[in-house]
Formats: sequence, structure tokens, C-alpha cells
Amino acid sequence: MGMALRVAPATRTTVGRDFLTLGDYTADEVLRLLDRAAYWKAARGGAAAPQPLSGKSVALLFLKPSLRTRVSFDVALHELGAHPVHLAGGDVGFGHREPTPDIAHVLSRMVHGIIVRGHRHEDIEELAAAASIPVINALTARYHPHQALADLLTLRERFGHLAGLRLAFVGDGNNVAHSLMLGAARTGIHFRIACPEGYAPEAALVAQAEGWAADTGGSVRIVREPAEAVEAADAVYTDVWVSMGQDGETEARTAAFRGYVVDEALMRHAAPHAVFLHDLPAHRGLEVTAGVIDGPASVVFDQAENRLHTAKAILEAVLGGGA
Ligand code: CP
Ligand code: NVA
Repeated sequence: MGMALRVAPATRTTVGRDFLTLGDYTADEVLRLLDRAAYWKAARGGAAAPQPLSGKSVALLFLKPSLRTRVSFDVALHELGAHPVHLAGGDVGFGHREPTPDIAHVLSRMVHGIIVRGHRHEDIEELAAAASIPVINALTARYHPHQALADLLTLRERFGHLAGLRLAFVGDGNNVAHSLMLGAARTGIHFRIACPEGYAPEAALVAQAEGWAADTGGSVRIVREPAEAVEAADAVYTDVWVSMGQDGETEARTAAFRGYVVDEALMRHAAPHAVFLHDLPAHRGLEVTAGVIDGPASVVFDQAENRLHTAKAILEAVLGGGA
């Protein structure tokens, strides 16, 4: 299955392509994005930081709240020389004011790319299928690929490499877990996720990740017990128990995830040098204790900053420009 899903040959250019899931990007392309993000991080504030997107305009269509994603893409566009056009869901009437393909056609006549945060992934796919310009996924209910790139960059900065690392995810098999699992499989990481029954990652995505992990030397394992996932891990990751759009499930989810708190006792199962990651926003006292997220192992603000550098890498990759 993994072999069949390896769609993009390494030599294919990234310019003009969508960025909807890491599944559409080869291992080489993912590593190239990380290298470019590291370049942009080092170049930031330098006298001659290039502006490869000068003269371009990009729409940002956010149908859900955001701090990190919205600010990182806005600042990235500004620093790369492009003009951001912000659209809230209410402005556009997404899903009810006009057919989604019409939105895609109109934006394709006016701007050079669309960054979109939406609910159903299928809606974003419909937008991308009709658009003649690149569409970048800024989070859907199924994926958060920009987040995963920033997470991989953060891990590579900390450990100097990705292949062979042991990464434990504790909690919901959600959008963040899906993209992290795919990114880990692409880069040779051993990914273990501990989740309660009924909250595992989608089986098709697990199969996709397992196929890639077999190629890269990584692995994917789903377990029930948090301590089993975290045992000897180099990095421990968690996310919210109730994602945007799931407010009606708050009670059931809070009950289901009660034993999945990342606290000091759980972190003691990890390697002594282990780092703690969270995509944020976080809820101290629910999925993570204040002692862990505000403690010395936490790299959550490196992750947040790396959203900016990875946003630049994604933008230049699909919109053109740069080395
Ligand atoms: N981690 C993340 O995507 O944050 P925002 O929802 O604030 O963009
Ligand atoms: N899983 C969370 C991630 C937020 C960045 C959500 O979808 O709300």
C-alpha cells in the first residue's frame, strides 16, 4: 500500500503544486522543505534576506480561529515580499454563499495562492481541485501538515537528525497526530501513539505511514498505555483532547482521555534527555501539566517559532522563487 501511495518522484518540481498533506511530498521533498526552513531561519533579519515572492498576492481564508498559523503565514508573506489578503469565513460565506469551485475560480483570477484553514478536508480538496493556483492546507479536521513540518524542524534542531528518533504521541489520533505520523514515517522516525479505544488515527493513514516507514527505517505503533508509548522516547508530544469543531463531544472526550495526561510521572518513562512538544494552544491541567509544559524539557515555543520558518519554505516551494 505504501509503495502504491508514493506518488511524487523526487525530481518533480514543487512549484505550482498544492500543499494539502505531507502524503503528497516525497521524503526528499520533505527534507528539502526542512533545509529551506533552516535557511530562512538563519537568514532572518539579515541585510540581504531575499524576497522571492515580490509582487505576488496570497489569500488567507480562515474558517476557524488561529494564532500561530495565521501570524506565521502573514509574516512569512510579508518578509518574502508578498501581499496577504485576509478572509474570514463570514466574509466569504464559505459553504453557503456560492459553490466552493466558484470561490476557487475567482481567487485564481486575482491572487497567486490560497492558504486555507477549514473543517472537512474534502472541502479543501474541492477548492484545490478547482483552483489553478496552489492551495496550502492551514489545518483541516484530518491534517495539519504545516505544523508537522515545524515539529520535524524542531526535533532536527534538538537532535541533529531525525532518522532513528523515538517519538511518542499521547492522546487523540487527530489532525496533528495524523500529519506528525506521516512526517515521522517519511523521515525514518519510530512513531508510537497511545490513545484510548475509539480515538486511534484513521486506519488508512496508519497503513500509509507504515508503508513509508518500511522504506525509511522508521516504524509506527499504536498502543493503549501512555507509559508504553513513552518508554525510552526521545520526544513526547500531546495535543488537545477536544479539537476545534468538536465542542459537542467535550464531556465524552474529557472522560475518555482522563488517563492520558502528560505529567512529570509519565515523562520519567522517557529518555533522560527527552523533549516535550505541543502544537498549542494547550490546556494546563488537562492534556499536560504546567510542570511539564513550562519545565526544562519543553520546546513548545521553538515549535511555534518554527511555524514562521517552515511557512516560508512552503510558500517558496509552491509559489516559486528562492534557490
Ligand atoms: N498550532 C496551531 O496551528 O496554532 P493556531 O491554531 O493558533 O494556528
Ligand atoms: N487538534 C487541534 C489543533 C489546533 C492547532 C484542533 O484541530 O483544534
